[in-house]
Amino acid sequence: MKILVTGGLGFIGSHTVVELQNEGLEVVIIDDCSNSSETVLEGIKAITGKMPQFEKFDLKEKALVEDFFKRHQDIQGVIHFAASKAVGESVSNPLRYYENNIGTLVYILKELVKKNRAQFIFSSSCTVYGQADKMPITEDAPIKPAESPYGNTKQMGEEILADTCKVTPGLQAISLRYFNPMGAHPSAKIGELPIGVPQNLVPFITQTGIGIREQLSVFGNDYPTSDGTCIRDYIYVVDLAKAHVLALQRLLKARNTDNYEVFNVGTGTGSTVLEVIQSFEKVSGVKLNYKIVPRRPGDITKAYADTTKANTILGWKAQYSLDEAMKSAWDWEQVIRAKG
Ligand code: UD1
Repeated sequence: MKILVTGGLGFIGSHTVVELQNEGLEVVIIDDCSNSSETVLEGIKAITGKMPQFEKFDLKEKALVEDFFKRHQDIQGVIHFAASKAVGESVSNPLRYYENNIGTLVYILKELVKKNRAQFIFSSSCTVYGQADKMPITEDAPIKPAESPYGNTKQMGEEILADTCKVTPGLQAISLRYFNPMGAHPSAKIGELPIGVPQNLVPFITQTGIGIREQLSVFGNDYPTSDGTCIRDYIYVVDLAKAHVLALQRLLKARNTDNYEVFNVGTGTGSTVLEVIQSFEKVSGVKLNYKIVPRRPGDITKAYADTTKANTILGWKAQYSLDEAMKSAWDWEQVIRAKG
């Protein structure tokens, strides 16, 4: 059973490759290394004992995508992570985001519709809900207008998939709407590798803890929450990776009830920014230097998942606590710091 993982050297992609290989599936990775490193392959091999196949090219090269599928006719499933994900950059350079995130999706789907049967997992995001009216957020919560071109590419990606599935009975697809992924593999052999200043909370915390950043700015403490800081649903990346394996298996075993389905992937529990900081201080024993600054434009007050659908239909449930996930992020930060 051969599975293509695009963006398989990235943060969520690499953890998913590990879980796929642990389940005995054969993996081929396509990654252009624009936001990842080939050294991740060594980490995957060290954990699983197996080196996945790897092809380095840019999925925007349509001819290369066509050629790839000609050479790998035995690909049975695709998990599509390859995409750009910096919200701010998407605002300043929208066309880059539409080309990277939408263009590549279309090229891959064009190849899959040529097959009699194909299975496809799409990396979507809770960003499609915007500030939802009700917590926890269920999959049928309304999709709100996107706050950024990045968010729009996730909404459009889901629509492109739904439209394509409607007219392509052989194409089986699932969109997974991730809440806030964090952490690293418990072996500390793979993890998040942010390029430049991290935009996301957890890598900013661990980099501040280890002394790469001087101080964490907490964006606002005047939100209507228990301590005034924003609430998110932080999901451990290994739990998230396992959700991909279960989603893919559902399609491979033809257990899906519709040829396009959507699932939230979160823990179901919301944590404030200050609670995340407390978790870091507890597991690391390091006092974090932070200060409260004004709100970050575009931030929503709270988002956490209703995970009933994934629990009951996929048979998936987050296993790790925030502290365990944070400990793995801290262990990983120390490993990459030691490597320089
Ligand atoms: C961000 C993106 C979202 C994307 C998600 C997953 C924005 C506005 N949204 O969501 O589209 O789907 O990442 O990659 O960028 N925080 C601080 N200080 C920091 C960094 C973050 O206080 O230096 C706070 C934020 O205000 C937020 C929480 O930490 O309350 C989490 O922030 P972040 O990791 O950036 O994720 P999201 O804002 O949820």
